[in-house]
Amino acid sequence: MPKNMGFLYLSIGGLLLAPLIFGLDMTSYHNTAALEAYLQDVSKNFPSITYLHSIGKSVLGRDLWVLVLGRYPTRHTVGIPEFKYVANMHGDEVVGREMLLYLIDYLVQNYGTDPVVTGMINNTRIHILPSLNPDGFENSAYLADCPFQSGRYNQNMKDLNRNFPDAFQMNNDPREPETEAAMNWIQSESFVLSANFHGGAVVASYPYDNSNKSREIPSPDDDFFQYLAHTYSNSHTTMHTGVNCGTARFVNGITNGFTWYTVQGGMQDYNYVWGQCFEITIEISCCKYPPPSELPAFWTQNKPALLEYMKQVHLGL
Ligand SMILES: *[C@@H]1O[C@H](CO)[C@@H](O)[C@H](O)[C@H]1NC(C)=O
Ligand SMILES: *[C@@H]1O[C@H](CO)[C@@H](O)[C@H](O)[C@H]1NC(C)=O
Ligand SMILES: [Zn+2]
Repeated sequence: MPKNMGFLYLSIGGLLLAPLIFGLDMTSYHNTAALEAYLQDVSKNFPSITYLHSIGKSVLGRDLWVLVLGRYPTRHTVGIPEFKYVANMHGDEVVGREMLLYLIDYLVQNYGTDPVVTGMINNTRIHILPSLNPDGFENSAYLADCPFQSGRYNQNMKDLNRNFPDAFQMNNDPREPETEAAMNWIQSESFVLSANFHGGAVVASYPYDNSNKSREIPSPDDDFFQYLAHTYSNSHTTMHTGVNCGTARFVNGITNGFTWYTVQGGMQDYNYVWGQCFEITIEISCCKYPPPSELPAFWTQNKPALLEYMKQVHLGL
């Protein structure tokens, strides 16, 4: 059970062995109960810079928790842009979920001491939704290999990343509760920049995900989207090298969504077309549900990219 204890160091004979991050255990995945306990702990310990709220419930009634970080976490303030990170909409793609918890921990622990983190929290309202599909997560488990699991879907066996309104064709699929919650949230905050995290590849993918022609239709902001995808890819320790997961290899670690494969009813195009928010899709692990012992290495790979991507919200979008 996560508990906030401040910083503690294991020390033998004065030799510093290992910092233990507090609050947050990096040796195992956080299930729904552990995730909730951790987020509540953070909101209790850092009340002036955080605001925890639920944007809705999953099919089985689990809360969709968002932790907001900022100087004025509960409300929009003129001059402070709204940024978001979302993970685990595919319940069996779990690395992003943990990375967002580590990011929260990093931000709150360094507020007031690290000038970059302090400036980021002072000047940005950062919304973090570690899991858009908690039911799918609970229906998945670490298996010795890395296959697709049915926990990808929500409890109604619907793929949430095919359930949004689509820019190019009608999507009459009834909206799932998780999708509806995400849509209401996107409409109620003036988000300008976002990323959502997936697994099964290592690449930053940008809109559009669909087309009504047999080829990619570049969005009006194609150059900017490529810049955003490059920002993540180049700041990640390996993504820019074109990590080969055995399926595809991406030049510089980026791709147009449609060019890779067609997605109808995806969340990133919805953000761009209906939310006026630039969102890209970031795949961060070949294995969708890797052994927990690999989590610290994933943090090392993604930490600089997570921070650098967030800074782009100040480009004056
Ligand atoms: C952040 O805001 C606090 C409170 O207003 C202020 O004391 C601090 O100097 C600011 N730091 C940075 C780096 O913006
Ligand atoms: C393709 O989609 C675009 C953007 O929604 C639209 O303007 C255009 O009319 C569509 N073309 C066809 C052939 O449906
Ligand atoms: Zn996915």
